[in-house]
Amino acid sequence: MLERTLVFLKPDAVARKLIGKVIARFEDRGFDILTLKMLRMTEKMVDIHYAEHLKKPFYPPLKKFILSGPIVAMIIEGEEAVQVVRKMVGCTNGLEAESGTLRGDFTLSNRVNLVHASDSLETAHREIEHFFGQVS
Ligand code: CMP
Repeated sequence: MLERTLVFLKPDAVARKLIGKVIARFEDRGFDILTLKMLRMTEKMVDIHYAEHLKKPFYPPLKKFILSGPIVAMIIEGEEAVQVVRKMVGCTNGLEAESGTLRGDFTLSNRVNLVHASDSLETAHREIEHFFGQVS
């Protein structure tokens, strides 16, 4: 099924000049980048985006990290985009992420972990609207 998912490159990916490499992985796989923008998230945006983690002990350092620099947000479209992109990103902790995944190839951290990708179709709808408003 043709799906859309929300991906953003976290401040570490931008600071390490990995924007091109990360986007190339998705394009090489056959996905379309429908739209993209560089932005600095506001505190409110971070609280909304990570609402489920607000009470977790790792939330304050996570928020500080996400606010530490610009991110690059994009809508990616393609067959089974939500699940395939998540697989390409790899599991949260870079130490455990498989080689060949973005996190497995580019990070050893479970916070400073390069990329965010929506975890379900429902989340993707919500996150796309949060970052880009209504998209046709
Ligand atoms: P992501 O899966 O994109 O969204 C939630 C983020 O919270 C996750 O990436 C990490 O950046 C961060 N995170 C999740 N679990 C931990 C943890 N145990 N310690 C530090 N950061 C975490």
